[in-house]
Amino acid sequence: MDQKRILLIVGGGIAAYKALELTRLLRKAGVGVRPILTAAGAHFVTPLSLSALAEDKVYSELFSLTDEAEMGHIELSRSADLVVVAPATADLMAKAAHGLANDLSSTTLLATDKPVLMAPAMNVRMWLHAATQRNLAVLRADGVSFVGPDEGAMACGEFGPGRMAEPPVIFEAIMAALGPGGRPLAGRRAIVTAGPTIEAIDPVRMLTNRSSGKQGYAIAGALAALGAEVTLVSGPTALAAPIGVKRVDVESARDMLAACEAALPADVAVCVAAVADWRPAEAGGQKLKKDGGAPAPLALVENPDILAALSKGDRRPKLVVGFAAETNDVEAHAKAKLGKKRCDWIVANDVSVAGTMGGDDNAVALVTTGGIERWDRMAKGAVARKLADRIAQEFQ
Ligand code: CTP
Repeated sequence: MDQKRILLIVGGGIAAYKALELTRLLRKAGVGVRPILTAAGAHFVTPLSLSALAEDKVYSELFSLTDEAEMGHIELSRSADLVVVAPATADLMAKAAHGLANDLSSTTLLATDKPVLMAPAMNVRMWLHAATQRNLAVLRADGVSFVGPDEGAMACGEFGPGRMAEPPVIFEAIMAALGPGGRPLAGRRAIVTAGPTIEAIDPVRMLTNRSSGKQGYAIAGALAALGAEVTLVSGPTALAAPIGVKRVDVESARDMLAACEAALPADVAVCVAAVADWRPAEAGGQKLKKDGGAPAPLALVENPDILAALSKGDRRPKLVVGFAAETNDVEAHAKAKLGKKRCDWIVANDVSVAGTMGGDDNAVALVTTGGIERWDRMAKGAVARKLADRIAQEFQ
């Protein structure tokens, strides 16, 4: 892992001392750490201790002639594979959410083209404040990833969410984000659909499918970790976008198709979304009222098939992969779908197995025109990494 580097921004909070332990863990694993210490952070840890553990110079001044001469702040923001903010204070989050750039850390966050991981740390009231939660939502939508905060007793004597995640947990999140050694998909563009779609019946009612989005999000993250430029077109889920992934939020199948088409051209498309097959023929503009009689029948029309649409046309990605969630005759149905939708691979999964829907594990078979590969039951993250590796092989 020696070639991997992170830029570590240490904000001003009591949790800053944990950034020292984090630096030690990273260096031990052979990851390069280039620290930026904010003025507030320097009240909690000294540049000397950070520099000694990082075995690198500590940067802190935006307008320092020596720092700028050695490495300008733009170059600094791009000199790493990942930017980590730990502790991410309420102030740093607010600046990043609003694009403020009035010191070295905020300028770096605005100038970077690298994935950003934040480990928030602040008082529970500050964390739960509507302003911080708003900033969190903005940052997530911008593709920033988060680890923590944990819940527990705080230095200020209060109890609740706001404690920075422990250094080994942040370390794991960093290692996952840095991914394996190489970046075989660098320069390749990928589209991943994930989550359910929702189809309005009226302003308060909808048709939807069961889908947590976990498998699709894991695939988007795994492709990004291999260097792909990933657009994740997602229906509503409770998940945060994986590191380095651009997420486009949609609701209906038609919106999902439009967002996928807008993301073309792409080298690979992986359709994991549980798209609602039908939508109400007419969505009521006003809430439908019960009138005491029998309910009016709901007329449905078929939704566009996104996987089939991406599999045809002159902008077809080189590799199009679909999923088949089946409850019976899994492989036979998957083979039939491969032909019907004209995609290259189908990842077939048996959703009749308890715990698959919404759970963390998946047992899948990869169905290609060349045959069937049955993979052992494994975590959805492991399925995602294995699939991403297989995709990378196709582009070698
Ligand atoms: N899919 C899609 N658009 C749709 C329906 C499905 O892109 N309107 C994609 C899914 O994302 C998945 C694959 O097609 O990759 C198979 O989805 P699945 O729900 O298993 O199959 P259906 O085509 O809906 O067929 P059926 O419901 O008859 O099993």
